[in-house]
Amino acid sequence: MSAQTEAPCELLPWDTDFFGCRIGRVRTDMLANELALKIDEWSRDNHIQCLYFLARPDDPATIRTAEAHGFGLVDVRLTLDRKVRPAQGATCRQLPPDAVIRPARLEDLPRLQGIARTAHGDARFFNDAHFPRPRVEEFYSVWITVECEGRAQKVFVAAGPAGQPLGYVSCHLESPQSKGQIGLVGVAHEARGKGLGSSLVLAALDWFAAQRAKGIAVVTQGRNVAAQRLYQSLGFLTADLRLWYHKWYG
Ligand SMILES: CC(C)(COP(=O)(O)OP(=O)(O)OC[C@H]1O[C@@H](n2cnc3c(N)ncnc32)[C@H](O)[C@@H]1OP(=O)(O)O)[C@@H](O)C(=O)NCCC(=O)NCCS
Repeated sequence: MSAQTEAPCELLPWDTDFFGCRIGRVRTDMLANELALKIDEWSRDNHIQCLYFLARPDDPATIRTAEAHGFGLVDVRLTLDRKVRPAQGATCRQLPPDAVIRPARLEDLPRLQGIARTAHGDARFFNDAHFPRPRVEEFYSVWITVECEGRAQKVFVAAGPAGQPLGYVSCHLESPQSKGQIGLVGVAHEARGKGLGSSLVLAALDWFAAQRAKGIAVVTQGRNVAAQRLYQSLGFLTADLRLWYHKWYG
C-alpha cells in the first residue's frame, strides 16, 4: 500500500474488546489540518469512539492542530534509559531487614493484582474520565497477570516478613538487539518510602546485566515525580518525551 493511500489510523482490537468501545490510534506523531480531517473521516467510517494520538512535543503546529480538532491532553509520556552495569548483587542494599526480593510465583497473583489495581493512578486512563475507573483498575490487574504468566521474561516481587508480596517489577528483553525494557513497577501504598521500589529496580538491573542486555529503558508519566526520582537516582536519564492525546467521538 502506498504512503498516500495508507489509512491515517489503525483500529486497536485488544483495547476495543477490553474497554467495550471502538478504539483506534493515529499512526503518525505529527498533525496538520488536512490530516486531522482525514482522521475524522477514517474515524467516522470505522465507527471509532476513542482515538489515541502520541504526539511529538517539538512541533507547535501539531499541538495547535490537535487542540483545535478536539484532542485532549491526557499524559506526558517520558522514556528514560541507562546503560547496563555489571551485576553487583546490590539488590539487598536498600531493603528493610524483614523484606526480600524474589522471583514472582503464580500464587502471588491475587495480591499482585490487588496492588496493581490501585498503584497506577498517574496513568493516562485514570486521567480520562471517559474510561470507567473500575475498568481501568482491571486493566492494570490484567497487565500484571499477563506479565506473570509469561509475557515478561522475568517478574520480581518484594515480599514482607510473612512472604506476602508488597511490590513488583517486570522485565522484558527484546531480541535480537537485547534491549532491556522495564514493564510494570508498583509498590503497595502502605509499603512505600522504605526502599522497596528502588530494590526492585536494582534487582531488574542485575537481571538485565546477567542477560547481557545492551541498555535498559523505562516509560513513566510526566506527572509521576516519585517514579522519575527513583529512576534518576539509579542512573536513568531522559531519552524521549511525547504527549498522549485522546479524542472522543459521539
Ligand atoms: C514509584 C514507586 C515504585 C516508588 O516505590 P517506593 O518503594 O516508595 O520507592 P523507594 O522507597 O525505594 O524510594 C526510592 C526513591 O524514589 C523517589 N521517591 C519515592 N517516593 C517518592 C515521593 N513520594 N516523592 C518524591 N520522590 C519519591 C526518591 O528519590 C526515593 O529515594 P530517597 O528515599 O532516597 O529520597 C511507588 O511510589 C509506586 O508504586 N508508585 C505507583 C506506581 C508507579 O508509579 N510505578 C512506576 C511508574 S511506571
